[in-house]
Amino acid sequence: MNLYIVIAPFIFLHCFHSAFTFPRHASCNVEWNVGENCKSAAIKIVNQIRIWNNTDCGTGEKCRYGLDLFDGAILKARHVTPHAHYVDFLIITFEPNNTECAIRGLSNSGVWYAYLDQSTNYCNLHNLITGSHLDKTPHYHEKTSDSTCTQYSTANCEKY
Ligand SMILES: *[C@@H]1O[C@H](CO)[C@@H](O)[C@H](O)[C@H]1NC(C)=O
Ligand SMILES: *[C@@H]1O[C@H](CO)[C@@H](O)[C@H](O)[C@H]1NC(C)=O
Repeated sequence: MNLYIVIAPFIFLHCFHSAFTFPRHASCNVEWNVGENCKSAAIKIVNQIRIWNNTDCGTGEKCRYGLDLFDGAILKARHVTPHAHYVDFLIITFEPNNTECAIRGLSNSGVWYAYLDQSTNYCNLHNLITGSHLDKTPHYHEKTSDSTCTQYSTANCEKY
């Protein structure tokens, strides 16, 4: 038996397995800690959504956000992809961590059959954090993984 025949099934199984390590539906869950109180962190994110409530997308996706609700603890927003006009729904929650803030973000594709998303759901969330400079606060950290965030490890948020 030649080597290829022996190895090929393993390569196939590996690829097959890799394809199923993402969430079943294109989506992303992220947790952050930011060195700022929740009230001011939330205001920065709300402002960033308002700034990006336009169609001036350039070559990326830092545009076409819309605020649906903010009641002080929960923020609901949407993001529309500039080319295909897919709508993704965002939910961001804020929970005090002493004087800092633990933020959770969920972005979910509004297209029921979406499986891969070129990391759009991750970038929908991550771009808001970097746009509002919360990633520059003390003790900033971001926690997510490919199993809870579609295509996280290959994300290019300048593009998507
Ligand atoms: C709370 O803040 C501390 C200090 O910055 C940090 O080490 C810890 O990971 C934070 N907790 C959460 C849930 O982010
Ligand atoms: C601005 O936000 C509103 C409210 O969510 C939304 O309906 C509208 O489509 C947004 N505009 C753009 C250009 O994204």
